[in-house]
Amino acid sequence: MNTQIPEELRSMRHFLSITETPANVLNALVDFSIVRKQQFRRGELTPAFQGRILAMIFQKSSLRTRLGFEAAMAQLGGHAINLEDHQIGLTRRESPRDVARVISSMADVIMARVYAHQSVVELAANATVPVINGLSDWAHPCQAVADLMTIKEHFGRLAGLRMAFIGDANNVARSLLNACVKSGMSFAIASPEGYQLDPGVVQHARGASAQSGIEILTCHDPAEAAAGADVVYTDVWTSMGQEAEQAEREKAFAAFQVNAELMRRAKPTAVAMHCLPAHRGSEITDEVIDGPQSVIFEQAENRLHSQRALLEVLLSRKK
Ligand code: CP
Ligand code: NVA
Repeated sequence: MNTQIPEELRSMRHFLSITETPANVLNALVDFSIVRKQQFRRGELTPAFQGRILAMIFQKSSLRTRLGFEAAMAQLGGHAINLEDHQIGLTRRESPRDVARVISSMADVIMARVYAHQSVVELAANATVPVINGLSDWAHPCQAVADLMTIKEHFGRLAGLRMAFIGDANNVARSLLNACVKSGMSFAIASPEGYQLDPGVVQHARGASAQSGIEILTCHDPAEAAAGADVVYTDVWTSMGQEAEQAEREKAFAAFQVNAELMRRAKPTAVAMHCLPAHRGSEITDEVIDGPQSVIFEQAENRLHSQRALLEVLLSRKK
């Protein structure tokens, strides 16, 4: 028999961004994911969602998100269907508005990986079932939950820790900034000129953390950001959809590599993180990914456990 879903999580409807997720909900989701992972490993979870359907839309490639959601649905006793975007043509063949209405009549939850964040917003505005953002150009909230989960499992806490993000101020970085603020972690980011966080995003985060004592630092020097960090995080220099800018980005980001030398700037107890897929030898070296400080493959596995917990929460909602 599965234990109860925590009260804080009962208000969850869609999961589009960390910004829109209240801090108590985010922290409860991280803790619930850890509990369910342990129960899953002990073989204690009952697949209680027979006949329930997750509809998945992928406008971009995926390994972890796709496998995590599909495996999670199977483990819950339900079923996931990948709608193959070249068939459904979200925004090209059919509007997110109509797609959302049709899927809502046949499935219980929608997960969408999209180019424009507006597409998940429109899906959510028109769906009568929950919508999960499986990555947009703006946010990657599912990644941030798995990341907080990984950090909490490793250090036993989140509040008071410090994350350094080295590289592009992209969807992953934005979600992590907000996740750190909501869990009491300081956040430092080093990005090249022209690839920094939007000032409005930083201002919002600083406002949200004003009374909390946490620090938010934005700079251009990886060593400055990494100084005293508990977590050193990086992501690709060129995200999906930005391929035309790759050569230009490789030049701009050349000095923004997470390597053994940079890891020495962080605390000796620091961990290295990357959402994957990685371009080994570009934003991160083999030595770091495969080294003793890496928790990168635990992060990847936690996509499954946190997404299964999220699905359980959303599928348990009263219709
Ligand atoms: N980190 C992540 O989202 O991986 P995929 O793109 O493979 O799903
Ligand atoms: N920033 C990357 C993350 C991939 C998981 C991208 O959007 O392609």
